[in-house]
Amino acid sequence: MLDLEGQGVRKAFISGLGGYVPEKVLTNYDLEKMVDTSDEWIRERTGIAERRIASKDCATSDLAIEASRMAIERASLKPQQIDLIICATVTPDNFFPSTACQIQKALGNNTAAAFDLSAACSGFIYGLSIANLFVCSGAYDHILLIGAETLSKVTDWEDRSTCVLFGDGAGAVVVSPAKGESSILSVHIFSDGQFSDCLEIPGGGSRNPCTHDSIDKRLHYIRMKGNETFKIAVKSLVNASVAALEHNKISAGQIDLFISHQANDRIIQAAAQRLNVPAEKVVINLDRFGNTSAASIPIALWDIERQGKLARGAMVLLAAFGGGLTWGSALIRW
Ligand SMILES: CC(C)(COP(=O)(O)OP(=O)(O)OC[C@H]1O[C@@H](n2cnc3c(N)ncnc32)[C@H](O)[C@@H]1OP(=O)(O)O)[C@@H](O)C(=O)NCCC(=O)NCCS
Repeated sequence: MLDLEGQGVRKAFISGLGGYVPEKVLTNYDLEKMVDTSDEWIRERTGIAERRIASKDCATSDLAIEASRMAIERASLKPQQIDLIICATVTPDNFFPSTACQIQKALGNNTAAAFDLSAACSGFIYGLSIANLFVCSGAYDHILLIGAETLSKVTDWEDRSTCVLFGDGAGAVVVSPAKGESSILSVHIFSDGQFSDCLEIPGGGSRNPCTHDSIDKRLHYIRMKGNETFKIAVKSLVNASVAALEHNKISAGQIDLFISHQANDRIIQAAAQRLNVPAEKVVINLDRFGNTSAASIPIALWDIERQGKLARGAMVLLAAFGGGLTWGSALIRW
């Protein structure tokens, strides 16, 4: 990681935060009517009780735009003051143009640079590393970073091992030059392509272009090796978190909030336990939103902020893992 400490460079902080989830709630009881599953199995194995589902005509950018408007307003900025827009997503509106460009259009901004970022469920942390370095370097002043997904559109609703896990939503932050104590203290990102087939959408790209055959084989839906992913997930969340703690020379006891990617309650609890982070500091909202991939961390931030649980000055540890495989962490003095 590029170490900017003590080099006289400016720091960055999160100046605005927003989130948005679709209105439609899909409960475990609803899923019982769709596949051979039960509320009890889903709660016990994942911690999920319900998730939000976008309507048929709602694309990822539609959710992202709502979250972005809120984040920009909370940063006391006008959309035109945003210099760069990064949208982390695995469910873009189209292959191209980017979802970030669609968001830019809706915001009425025509001066920013805009691009999408593909790092699956670690996308927000990857985006934060870019936004942080761009602001610290002085290249940009105000960066809109969004994690947004409509995973319901790529979920195989006949596959009980995956369809119970995912949900739709968007979270957004504005990253700006730090003025006071609040700042992004570190961001670490990692990947290992060896495990690329643990979690994937095999069809629809250049490897298996969309054909009648690929559709019949359901290749355009998410496929996952659940057990393998589970084991690697715990290890990578712990390793990424330790990298943040060691880099900042702090102990887990100094963390006020641990916000992990919201994939599975058992994964998060196992990681927190290994890190010695007490249960009351662990943020869980997957019971209400499921796994929203790149959106899960910014949605969790927005969710606890609106509940009054995210105080300025709090030491917040973010950690994520996802397809790729990718993983990473960020330490923030909120
Ligand atoms: C998917 C996951 C919840 C499955 O839990 P698990 O405890 O590993 O369960 P298994 O896959 O071993 O399956 C156990 C049994 O439950 C069954 N099962 C799977 N999904 C089920 C469902 N929705 N309802 C009921 N039974 C189900 C399996 O068919 C299997 O049955 P069998 O023993 O008769 O073969 C878990 O592996 C997981 O969370 N993995 C990580 C996933 C993840 O985080 N992905 C996102 C990364 S960003």
